[in-house]
Amino acid sequence: MILDQLIGFFSSDMSIDLGTANTLVLVKGRGIIINEPSVVAIQKNKNGKTRILAVGQEDKNMLGKTPGSIEAIRPMKDGVIADFDITEKMIRYFIEKAHKRKSFLRPRILICVPYGLTQVERKAVRESAMSAGAREVFLIEEPMAAAIGANLPVREPVGSLVVDIGGGTTEIGVVSLGGLVISKSIRTAGDKIDMAIVDYIKKKYNLLIGERAGEEIKIEIGATIPLDEPLISTVKGRDQVSGLLSSIEFTSEDVRDATKEPIKEIADALKDVLEIMPPDLAGDIVENGVVLTGGGALIRGLDKYLSDIIKLPVYIAEEPLLAVAKGTGKALEEIELLQQLANE
Ligand SMILES: Nc1ncnc2c1ncn2[C@@H]1O[C@H](COP(=O)(O)OP(=O)(O)OP(=O)(O)O)[C@@H](O)[C@H]1O
Ligand SMILES: [Mg+2]
Repeated sequence: MILDQLIGFFSSDMSIDLGTANTLVLVKGRGIIINEPSVVAIQKNKNGKTRILAVGQEDKNMLGKTPGSIEAIRPMKDGVIADFDITEKMIRYFIEKAHKRKSFLRPRILICVPYGLTQVERKAVRESAMSAGAREVFLIEEPMAAAIGANLPVREPVGSLVVDIGGGTTEIGVVSLGGLVISKSIRTAGDKIDMAIVDYIKKKYNLLIGERAGEEIKIEIGATIPLDEPLISTVKGRDQVSGLLSSIEFTSEDVRDATKEPIKEIADALKDVLEIMPPDLAGDIVENGVVLTGGGALIRGLDKYLSDIIKLPVYIAEEPLLAVAKGTGKALEEIELLQQLANE
């Protein structure tokens, strides 16, 4: 035990929030050391082997624009790991970056995975991390990490409801006494909202824009309720009919119209969870409300929109984009909580 503690001390426990849109790496005692888009630049050599060149922002800028042998890819899609080989290389890259290759001891790693990963997928994540150099691997489910990160009283005999809206999945969890009592995951989140904007502009204006442009519009002027002063942005793209480059004016009201469907799907999923809530926990939720985490929580007015539908208070967690990573950080501090959560 003492030896284990000593090794643990020297080997810097770390956690990884392997998100569809963003990956955050946290080292115990140092906080979040990496916060980058989940995009990997890989290079294929002649005998077909792949090598990771970099992970992060620069690669996101490369999406759809890379030359020949270099490829920029998003290894997670719809909240699931689409490519395990790349994921293993990514984890290895993070371990090396976190410990600057100096550490000869292998870290314990806590990895946040989407709720709803199959046993096979969980095993694959675990094995990826082990072969990437971890000494021990713990998995934590995203709604649980989000609830811990949002400072909800997860270990108390009180129900807390968290809705984490990421890039690939919206994960809804009711947490009580250190466990997930109910959870639901849908593959409607930021990416689908971006696509809805792209499709709408294509249908209504015959204008072709990329997914990244769709995301930019969402962040810049996106709203789920009418704003006192609508926001306006100029959208540039290619006219489908003339083939020429063209631009249109797009407002927050247009975004609201374009994204009605995916936003409603998120609200419906939340309603489904409320409908199956055990009565004893329902009282707690009525009292304490619902907390939103994940980048999707930042779309203008989503708290009010959801609150109007479910007739309960809805709050946005502080720094929603960091909630899951902060939750993994807190879980790292408490080994016994980790062990409790590791009962996969
Ligand atoms: N200000 C903003 N307004 C609206 N959406 C935003 C804003 N900032 C970020 N987002 C969106 O949040 C999403 C990313 O959130 P987050 O980092 O929580 O996802 P993730 O953890 O990578 O994904 P997942 O949990 O589904 O695997 C993206 O779709 C992004 O467009
Ligand atoms: Mg996430």
